[in-house]
Amino acid sequence: MDRSATAVGERLMGSGASPVVELNLRPQEAGQLRAIAAEVCDAVDVGSCGADLFEALDTGRKRIPARLAAHLMLLRSDEPVDCLIVHGLDVDEIGLLPTPSDWRVADKRATRTQDVQVLLLAGCLGHAFGWEGQQDGRLVNDIVPVKADENCQLNSSSREAVAWHTEDAFQQYPADYVGLLGLRNRDGVKTGVSCAREWVPDARLDALFVTPVTQMPDLAFEGEARAWPGPALFGDRRMPYVRLDPHFLQRPLPPEVEDALAVLDSVVERTMRRVVVGPGDVLLVDNMRAVHSRDSFVPRYDGADRWLKRVTISRDIRRTRSNQAGHDSMLRSADDGD
Ligand SMILES: [Fe+2]
Repeated sequence: MDRSATAVGERLMGSGASPVVELNLRPQEAGQLRAIAAEVCDAVDVGSCGADLFEALDTGRKRIPARLAAHLMLLRSDEPVDCLIVHGLDVDEIGLLPTPSDWRVADKRATRTQDVQVLLLAGCLGHAFGWEGQQDGRLVNDIVPVKADENCQLNSSSREAVAWHTEDAFQQYPADYVGLLGLRNRDGVKTGVSCAREWVPDARLDALFVTPVTQMPDLAFEGEARAWPGPALFGDRRMPYVRLDPHFLQRPLPPEVEDALAVLDSVVERTMRRVVVGPGDVLLVDNMRAVHSRDSFVPRYDGADRWLKRVTISRDIRRTRSNQAGHDSMLRSADDGD
């Protein structure tokens, strides 16, 4: 692994052992990344999600700036990073269209250079994919406030905060990483990240390693989906994996699990880092080692609201074969055997 990621230009949040790392791209590096993205856009139809797009992305990602590639490798390795924040991508905030009022009316072609930039980063971590039951299976989702969803537990909500969770906790094959690219965030709405390795050791959490819970489909998912049974925390107890969205757990739960969840909630709040994903910022989270959340905010629907791009990434897309909906970049929740 290239340890040059800890060289000049990097700023660690907190102590030197922090699992959250930041990188400030230099203008030249940002220009390089944007130029590669523009080449991909010229060469292929980005909206197709076809093999030619992934071939172009694979060729392009090998040319991304070396410091950026090295930082992504830190996140890709088992240690020592659970979350990477990259600042300084060129997303042309000034030239952007107004924030769409709904993901359904977003002009995907107008932001394809931004989409490809985040896909190039995703390609260094694994294989980007979309869910058939979420935003029509699009590879890159538009995260914008939607009036009808203001008070829901959805990424399109606003007045209601999104409680901490791992992405796709109910899915058979949840994303290994979630990436958020900021296009616009004038109100400085914060995204929270808390890393599971900072929750342990804590004997009060033992029930979450031992007693299975049933994770129900979340509101963002449309279509057929099953619940997922399993322990919320698993793996190495010194550095556990997490699969948990407390808001969508099947209840009632055994008292020892409810007690452990209450403890975990306070631990997560204590260890939460709150980050503004602003224009040109990318937040990449290891979805098996960290939870994320979003603060509430007041939307204006004036074209200047918060606008993020989201990508979900699998480290091994082969294991999802039976859940693939036509091609290997769009997954369905229930497998073909159902
Ligand atoms: Fe999420």
